[in-house]
Order: sequence, then C-alpha cells, then structure tokens
Amino acid sequence: MSAAALDWANLLVRWFHVIAGIWWIGSSLYFVTLDNSFKPPKEPKDGVDGETFMVHGGFYYLVEKRFMQPGKMPDRLLWFKWEATFTWISGMMLLAIVYYFTGGSYLIDSKVADITLQQAVVASLGLVIGCWLLYDLVWQTLGKKSEKIGTALSLAGLVGLAYGLTHLFSGRAAFIHFGAVLGTLMVANVWIRILPGQRKMLEDALAGRTPDYSQGKYAKVRSVHNSYMTFPVIFMMISNHFPNTFGHQQNWLIMLLLFVVGGGVRHFQISEERGNPAYWVLAPALLALVATVTMTLPKTKTVDVSEADKIPFTKVQRIILERCTPCHASQPYPPPGAKYTEPPNGVVFETEEQIRAMIHKIRAQAVDSAAMPLGNLTRITKEERKLLGEWIDQQGSGS
Ligand code: HEC
Repeated sequence: MSAAALDWANLLVRWFHVIAGIWWIGSSLYFVTLDNSFKPPKEPKDGVDGETFMVHGGFYYLVEKRFMQPGKMPDRLLWFKWEATFTWISGMMLLAIVYYFTGGSYLIDSKVADITLQQAVVASLGLVIGCWLLYDLVWQTLGKKSEKIGTALSLAGLVGLAYGLTHLFSGRAAFIHFGAVLGTLMVANVWIRILPGQRKMLEDALAGRTPDYSQGKYAKVRSVHNSYMTFPVIFMMISNHFPNTFGHQQNWLIMLLLFVVGGGVRHFQISEERGNPAYWVLAPALLALVATVTMTLPKTKTVDVSEADKIPFTKVQRIILERCTPCHASQPYPPPGAKYTEPPNGVVFETEEQIRAMIHKIRAQAVDSAAMPLGNLTRITKEERKLLGEWIDQQGSGS
C-alpha cells in the first residue's frame, strides 16, 4: 500500500474506531450507573426488581429492572453487542495499518528485541488470542471455584504481560498491545461468556421454563472484570501521545501503575454510585499516580558552563541531521523501513530555529525516552542522546 493510501486508511478506520469505542464504553458506563441506581418500587409490582426515574432531553423515563418470566416475552428487545464488536474489528484493523504495514518501524525496536517483522506480527496476533484463551481457562476452572485464586492468577498474568510486551516490542507498540489484549478480553467476555448466558435464560423463558438465574452469576464476574479494564484500556489507546510513559526505561512498571490508577478510580466510582464509597481505594490509586509522575519527571537541570566548554551547536546539528532529519524534513527521505511523504506530525528539523523551538520535545522524545528516532531506524547512539541532553541543559531557562 502506498504511504498516502495508508494515511487515509489510518484516518478513516481511526475515526470509526473512536466512534464505535465511545458508543460501546458509553453504553457500558451507562448500564453500570443505571444498575446501581435501582430502588424497589414503592408499591410492589409483579416481576419488577427495581425501578429508577431519569430525565433526558425534555422527557422523563421510567426504567424497570425485571426478571424474565416464563412465557412472558417482550415483542422487542434491544441487544447491546455490536458496538463492542465494531470497536474490536476496527481496532485490529488499526493495529495492522499502523503496526504491521509500516515495515516494523512502529512495532519493533532492535534495542529491545532484534526480531523480524514476521516474528513480531505472529507474536502480536498470538498474544491477543493466547491471552484470552489463558484468561478464560483460569476463570472457567480455578476462578469458578475461588474468585480469590482467579484474581491472584489474573493479576500475576497482568504483570507478566506488561513485562513481556515491553521486552518484545517497541515501547509504543507494547502499550498499544497491552490495551489490545485487555480490549480483546472485554469483547470476548461479552460474546463468549455474557451473551450466551442471557440467550439461554431467554430461551428458557420463551419455552415457559423458569430461567436458571445462576447463569447470570458467572456472567456477572466477567462483567465486573470488564468494568475494571475500561479506564486502563482507554489510557493505553491514547498512550502514544505520551513518550514519557511508553518510552521510559521502566515502562512495564509505568504501564502497571497506570492500570492501578484507572482501575482504582473506576472502583471508587462504582462504589460511590452504590452509595458506599470505597475511599480507601483512592490511596493506592493516588500513590500509583504520584509514583508515575515522579518516575517520569524530566531530569532537567540548567548547567552554567564557561563559553569555552559549551557544546557547539554544529555538533548537535550534525546529530539531528543524520538521525532525525531524514524523516523530519519538509521533503522526507526516510531510511528503509519507513515511508513518509510529509514530515511526521509536521515536525521539521532543517534550520537552527526549528531545532531550538523544539528542545522540550526533543528532550522528551530522544533523551528522556528512546521514543525517537522511530524504531531507531537511523541508529542513534547512547553517546549522541547524552550529548543532545547536555546541550539542552546548557541552553538556560531550565528547558
Ligand atoms: C524513521 C522516521 C523518524 C525518525 C528518524 C525520527 N522521527 Fe520523530 N517522528 C516520526 C514519526 C512517525 C512521528 C509521529 C509519531 C506519532 O504519530 O505519534 C514523529 C514525531 C516526532 C515528534 C513530535 C512529537 C509530538 O509530540 O508531536 C518529535 C518532537 C520528534 N519526532 C523528534 C524526533 C527526533 C529528535 C529525532 C531524532 C533523534 C526523530 N524524531 C527521528 C518519525 C521519525
């Protein structure tokens, strides 16, 4: 595919993916809030477990929470399943467009693991599917007997996944894959473990049998998992904008800490809606956030050196010209493995002004993290990164 076609595919699929994702997560958050808001009706009504009043767009809505009763079926029943499916399909397409079809420049970092594009793609797909199989196995066997054991194993798996991904793929790809794996668990939970149970209860009701409500119990466990994964997954999806997270030396730890932040906030939100706020959970969430912020603080220092010791700009310019400008030029001439007809993100390093105007970002992308050069295709050295950092430190104003 040509670079321009790939750009358009990226734009349209991403646009769709975000809409589908809002639709899915939006309805999922809505249903959790709704579920937590039911109160028993003032005068008992047959088959009604709880009711709630809502206001929206000029009307009032009375929603009843009901059990399916044998032989009593509504004419019309809305299912919420396609939004999750469309989000997943477009997400996998985006994974291919951005990570598989770009020669490995986004997926592989030879400093992390020197693997071929083919190996990386097989690992990527294998992990997305394999993690679901493993997670499902745990929760169909041990997890069914003891939720504690299931949870402990899942959390251990999460740590292993974070560590493994960041030692297999480039930082940005590792974060996206963490999100892709969790997102896949969520969608598969919906299709394979939540919907079939509901369908079974419906069939029972249709056939005039009393539905087996314990079906709902295991589905509920998966539903709770999905609830906790929502916020972390959303961060992983936007993580590519934050090289201070995915480009950090201990990026696996940052990944896990941000999972704690997102999961913790969601836990608090749910408990608060139920009228029993779990304030304690804010402590680990806040602690994890403070730890992440502290870890990613730029190691900026202003260094006063005598004129004679100052690193001359020409030295810096030479590094940037060799390692960055091939992509960051008004007419890029990228190394093999990358295709650009426009400077990425509009960033151009051709003149001294352009370079000086971007020193904050150069530090974030190429000194404090190894996010740039992309896939290190231009093979920058450690010494060159260090020199860039020292030069930036010497520019005063604590840049
Ligand atoms: C192989 C091509 C390539 C090379 C070489 C490269 N970059 Fe980039 N750069 C990119 C791409 C692609 C993006 C856009 C990434 C994205 O979509 O997030 C980018 C984005 C950036 C951004 C913008 C980030 C933002 O917040 O918008 C900066 C700054 C940057 N690069 C700095 C550098 C520096 C400094 C070097 C050299 C040390 C470098 N790049 C080398 C491809 C490259």
